[in-house]
Amino acid sequence: MLELKNIVYQVEENGEGIGILNDVSLVIPDGKLTVITGPNGGGKSTLARIIAGVVKPTSGKIFFNGQDITDMSITDRARLGIGFAFQQPVRFKGIRVVDLIRLAKGEKKLSSSDACKYLAAVGLCAKDYINREVNSSLSGGELKRIEIATVLAKKSALSVFDEPEAGIDLWSFQNLIEVFDGMRKNIEGSSIIIISHQERILQIADEIVLVKEGKIDCQGTCDEILPKLVGTESAVKSCGVIDLWKGGDN
Ligand SMILES: Nc1ncnc2c1ncn2[C@@H]1O[C@H](COP(=O)(O)OP(=O)(O)OP(=O)(O)O)[C@@H](O)[C@H]1O
Ligand SMILES: [Mg+2]
Repeated sequence: MLELKNIVYQVEENGEGIGILNDVSLVIPDGKLTVITGPNGGGKSTLARIIAGVVKPTSGKIFFNGQDITDMSITDRARLGIGFAFQQPVRFKGIRVVDLIRLAKGEKKLSSSDACKYLAAVGLCAKDYINREVNSSLSGGELKRIEIATVLAKKSALSVFDEPEAGIDLWSFQNLIEVFDGMRKNIEGSSIIIISHQERILQIADEIVLVKEGKIDCQGTCDEILPKLVGTESAVKSCGVIDLWKGGDN
């Protein structure tokens, strides 16, 4: 179980502290797929980076299975079983796709055909990619899918995916939903957090957490939260639509 207690994250801008996360307390239960959603800029990726240890909270504590991990590095958290797929994946020059999967799986001798299974799961034709270098020649969607494949290979106790759908085409997206649904059915003692804006992903959630303006707006089961989110007025509407095409500024 992951527990965040009174997490505050502030950044300095012009000598002033700006609150990105404002007193966030959250419990991510075991054996569940939790989807974190909410408006752009609400603080979801910051929350994910705090869970993975990429950034440290200004104050507050994080516990993983009862252990205080607040001051632990990314590597130590990964050793404890926290796997993370970034919203914008990192490229690793000189490293091949197969090496990344072997590294994630922790088996240097993992056969190429076994490594290929993870690429196939995210809809990549494995033989075309397995020996490619993880560099800028890969498209955004390819890179994203390779990163998801590495998190699948890790089989972490807690897997965190930040907007896995970003840059993924419609055909692969369908495949991805099936992958997450399969993970959920075989979740046993582990847990999954997916940060997403997609209704299709929200529909397979056990729990939904709405993050808004650096706070938890609400949390509950899919049945409780989803009806509140679907069909509500869009953020743009509530701010007033600016009609760019009227050309009123001439
Ligand atoms: N280091 C930083 N300096 C200044 N502002 C920051 C910093 N990190 C995050 N922010 C701001 O904090 C807010 C939350 O960012 P975050 O990336 O967590 O949002 P998000 O909910 O993931 O949004 P999206 O849905 O667009 O991915 C944004 O307004 C962002 O500009
Ligand atoms: Mg984000």
